[in-house]
Amino acid sequence: MSFSNLFRKKSVSDILANAEQHSLAKRLGVRDLTAFGIAAIIGAGIFSTIGRASYEGGPAVVFLFIFTALACAFTAFAYAEFASLVPVSGSAYTYSYVAFGELFAWVIGWALIMEYAIGNIVVAISWSDYFTNLLNGINGVHIPEWLTMDYFTAKEGYELIHNQLENGTSFEIVKNSQEFEKYLAYINAPNIGFPLVFDVFALMITFLITALVYRGINESRKASNIMVILKVAVVLLVIIIGSFYVNTENWNPFAPNGMSGVLAGISSVFFAYIGFDAISTTAEECKNPQRDLPRGIFAAIIICTILYVAIALVITGLVNYSELNVGDPLAYVFTKVQDLQWLSGVIAISAVIAMASVFVVFQLGQPRIWMTMSRDGLLPKNFSKIHPKYKTPSYATIVTGLVVAIPILFTDLEMVVDACSIGTLFAFVLVCAGVLKLESDKNGPRGKFKVPYINSAYVMPVVFVLVCFVLFYFFKTETINFFTNAPQMSNSGVYETGWELFKHKIPMWIFILIFIGMTAISIIRKMTFIPLAGMLCCFYMMAELGLKNWIFFLIWLIIGLVIYFIYGYRNSKLKK
Ligand code: ALA
Repeated sequence: MSFSNLFRKKSVSDILANAEQHSLAKRLGVRDLTAFGIAAIIGAGIFSTIGRASYEGGPAVVFLFIFTALACAFTAFAYAEFASLVPVSGSAYTYSYVAFGELFAWVIGWALIMEYAIGNIVVAISWSDYFTNLLNGINGVHIPEWLTMDYFTAKEGYELIHNQLENGTSFEIVKNSQEFEKYLAYINAPNIGFPLVFDVFALMITFLITALVYRGINESRKASNIMVILKVAVVLLVIIIGSFYVNTENWNPFAPNGMSGVLAGISSVFFAYIGFDAISTTAEECKNPQRDLPRGIFAAIIICTILYVAIALVITGLVNYSELNVGDPLAYVFTKVQDLQWLSGVIAISAVIAMASVFVVFQLGQPRIWMTMSRDGLLPKNFSKIHPKYKTPSYATIVTGLVVAIPILFTDLEMVVDACSIGTLFAFVLVCAGVLKLESDKNGPRGKFKVPYINSAYVMPVVFVLVCFVLFYFFKTETINFFTNAPQMSNSGVYETGWELFKHKIPMWIFILIFIGMTAISIIRKMTFIPLAGMLCCFYMMAELGLKNWIFFLIWLIIGLVIYFIYGYRNSKLKK
């Protein structure tokens, strides 16, 4: 094995020449791309996970939305530059192949499975929750609980309730607990050696949408354009009608749980923004990718940010933040306003549509990344097989369907939201770093769109001082406690000290060291500010996701590396 082979790079001209030989239909224009972006962005995040984020942070969650939008916008510049330079399928994977070489490209391709396939598990489960509630809302319809969740969730609930009953808690009391549904699912399920509990609607939506994207991008494009119009209309309806009923007293206090409450929502809020980057995976199917891709990405991100901030203000204004820990917050807030209960049903229907459209985009993106990796020899040939009639990567599409469907049987929602966010943030960090790398190479390739140059030698020191000022002036106690490792109460109510406490801070310490290091380097090297800021913001969000998620993500990366060394390294086309 040669060390230098690990960093073999692809040249832009080779990528473009290679893409010419393959025959994906070129039909997408800027409007389709923007719609595509919105289809990918507005979904389970704003319809579901925003509830938990608002519950933790209160109305101040809007600051988190703005910060996340800023981080995504910085990153969007980097995506736009790369997409205009290498307008082919593959997204961040292809970009890092150009900037950093093969090993990084593989790592990114592997991390993107977290974004697309794992992201779609989140969407499928949330979709199924809304859909089940909609059906249960129809007179005379009741969907058995064992068809609405995964086996492990049901088992957990069963054990809890079972123990309570054994310990003498009355049936009347446990009947009203939130776990009771899970208990029912477990005891009423048909027994096939074990109770057959599964989320039938999550599987159904996975099957239907996989079939749709298998049939072809044109049909999918029409479907997603219609869904986007519908969901933007409903989101606007919520904002406009809701704003008349806002009670500004609900905004006081604005940040009831302080900074830590707001930050607890990072993965939920970031999840709501994931998707703008999916636009770049359709580069090969664009009529004029160099011009249209950057425009599409920015339009989608700006529109969604405005809608999100407005929605967050409206829902935290309609009810007290403490009521928002529900899976269907947008529908829920309107059940609390007299005269507006009817709107709650409309929103529930639109949530089902909104989430389905996110599903389409992710389910389109994943096979196209695999297709590109297969063309490079890093995955088996079947992954780049194009269907002769539908002109879609048919085999990769079916595998994507399976990769989403199988874990639905046994995954926990919160875990998959975190996993999806950390994987995506990691990809964003590397894409931003890739642009910094391109910039540093004066004779390197250039696309038609370039990130505007702002000299970070002037900006970064100011940012650094500002951050220190805010931390030590506004959050003095928290900051001092962090650096002195002062004992702290953990979530489970015990005091943590020493290593037990410190280990959870490792991700943040890594971030702090990188922040200091990059500030110093930026002064010396006069790096361009926007991608640097994108990289640091995304890294910061990763650091906030905590040690448990970092360990999970590291294990995931190690599995990926093993596969690379067994298969990809040996079969890479770049070897010859
Ligand atoms: N942003 C997408 C959603 O919220 C992933 O569903």
